[in-house]
Amino acid sequence: MTRVLILGANGQLARHTTKFFLERTDARLTLYLRRANRLQKPVLPNRDRVNFIESDVLDRKTLMTAMPGQDVVYANLAGDMAAQARAIVDAMQTTGLKRLIFISSMGIYGEVPGEKYRSVLDPYRDSAAVIEASDLDYTLLRPGWFTQERAIDYKLTQKGEPFQGHDVSLNSLSDLIVKLALSPTLHVRCSLGVSKA
Ligand SMILES: NC(=O)c1ccc[n+]([C@@H]2O[C@H](COP(=O)([O-])OP(=O)(O)OC[C@H]3O[C@@H](n4cnc5c(N)ncnc54)[C@H](OP(=O)(O)O)[C@@H]3O)[C@@H](O)[C@H]2O)c1
Repeated sequence: MTRVLILGANGQLARHTTKFFLERTDARLTLYLRRANRLQKPVLPNRDRVNFIESDVLDRKTLMTAMPGQDVVYANLAGDMAAQARAIVDAMQTTGLKRLIFISSMGIYGEVPGEKYRSVLDPYRDSAAVIEASDLDYTLLRPGWFTQERAIDYKLTQKGEPFQGHDVSLNSLSDLIVKLALSPTLHVRCSLGVSKA
């Protein structure tokens, strides 16, 4: 049974993926988020496999205490992502955790044909650089725009390849994140573009 620490658990994709984990796997989840009451009310399936930590990822002391006993960290953040990435890498290295799934964005390497996202992507670019410079077993995901389409149909592009397409369903991303979390060696030390097949 895999233990997953979800950072930024109130995010749109994190909430979607939490349901996937609880409905489709026997994983135990720690939902780490600011203002935990936002997730207490909605009925989560298999709630007995969930616990909550109410804190900011930049609160290094609390972040450190969240790590022991986990198998995988899944970071679904926004904002000052470089500082968040530094805090996560430090906490994982200090506590001996290796596996990290980190949600970034398409465009950070200028890999989307015809698009220049420039400074709006700086937090994504800078946080990816922090993670890639670490010795963690990371998988960075660079999704296209999220859609509500039901289909699970996605293709992956590696770093250095042009991104294909523009969007991807939340179902596809959650499916991929669950697979990565349950497979310690799948796409390790890779930065993957994710788009509709
Ligand atoms: N939507 C798209 O089409 C799309 C496409 C490509 C990439 N992305 C990126 O993919 C990532 C995930 O997407 P999403 O839609 O799930 O994002 P989201 O709904 O904006 O969720 C981000 C979460 O990060 C949390 N957060 C920010 N700073 C934090 C901190 N210091 N400590 C703890 N939590 C913190 C926020 O918490 P609060 O709820 O407390 O504010 C929020 O719940 C985002 O970075 C997004 O920009 C999105």
